[in-house]
Amino acid sequence: MENFHQWSRLALGPRVGAVFVALIAPLLYKFNPQKRLFSVEELALHNGTDDSIPILLGILGSVFDVTKGKSHYGKGGGYNHFAGRDASRAFVSGNFTGDGLTDSLRGLSSSNVKSVVEWRDFYFRSYKFVGKLVGRYYDSQGNPTKYLKGAEAKAARGAQLMEKQKTEEAKQPSCNSKWSQEEGGEVWCDDGCPRLVQRPQEIALTGKMSKRCACFKEDELNRPGLEVYEGCDYLAKTCRV
Ligand code: HEM
Ligand SMILES: *[C@@H]1O[C@H](CO)[C@@H](O)[C@H](O)[C@H]1NC(C)=O
Ligand SMILES: *[C@@H]1O[C@H](CO)[C@@H](O)[C@H](O)[C@H]1NC(C)=O
Repeated sequence: MENFHQWSRLALGPRVGAVFVALIAPLLYKFNPQKRLFSVEELALHNGTDDSIPILLGILGSVFDVTKGKSHYGKGGGYNHFAGRDASRAFVSGNFTGDGLTDSLRGLSSSNVKSVVEWRDFYFRSYKFVGKLVGRYYDSQGNPTKYLKGAEAKAARGAQLMEKQKTEEAKQPSCNSKWSQEEGGEVWCDDGCPRLVQRPQEIALTGKMSKRCACFKEDELNRPGLEVYEGCDYLAKTCRV
């Protein structure tokens, strides 16, 4: 019996090792958030000009291999400017030129910062995470900086604000709307009158998103901040836009 145990231990030893290497080690590697650290200069080499090396993209200091999206990120691709750098800000500004290609989020609204975090989520879902960029978002040890924690906290506030705004807007019915080539745009209310209302600054993503059309009953029309559509009667139920 004692003999058998010695045998089984001898037999299991190498097998446990093989199982570790084959199954567990790749998992540890996959979930090990350290991976490798990149410098700005090193990342810049992965800008899609050299077909023989992977195309890499940084966002909030996380680095992803986007080679499989070569048509977007490679030479001549519409999003080639994202390759070989961290241009976090451009994911919400849409400014892919000059100083627009920066990782600084200074002055962006909390909902904008949330959008950048959502882009990072997109890359985690769609591409392979390969490491971290040492700089604004990760220090030379690969630890998150104050700046990254600040951005993530701001994004969380943005999410909260947008949630609150959604429940707020649900209380005030939105206008119906339609658009056709012949007749152009039209907004109308089944109950009440269409008015343009300004969204809070922190929610407004772009100029376009900063206002919405909502329906107000006659006795609500004296509320502050309600804008009558240009060329539309004060009590009209339908307005051209
Ligand atoms: C702030 C502005 C914008 C940013 C930051 C942005 C960013 C991106 C990125 C990063 C991708 C690639 C996603 C991937 O890896 O699969 C993408 C794809 C795409 N974008 Fe944009 N985009 C912007 C504006 C626009 C606009 C205005 C349009 C259309 C008028 C547009 C149309 C598309 C289309 C059609 C694709 C998919 C292309 C394909 O799958 O072949 N984007 N965008
Ligand atoms: C782009 O990458 C190539 C090599 O992969 C490098 O020679 C070139 O300097 C890079 N461009 C920039 C602007 O860093
Ligand atoms: C892009 O950003 C740069 C630097 O901030 C600025 O000079 C330029 O006017 C911007 N371009 C657009 C189209 O907004």
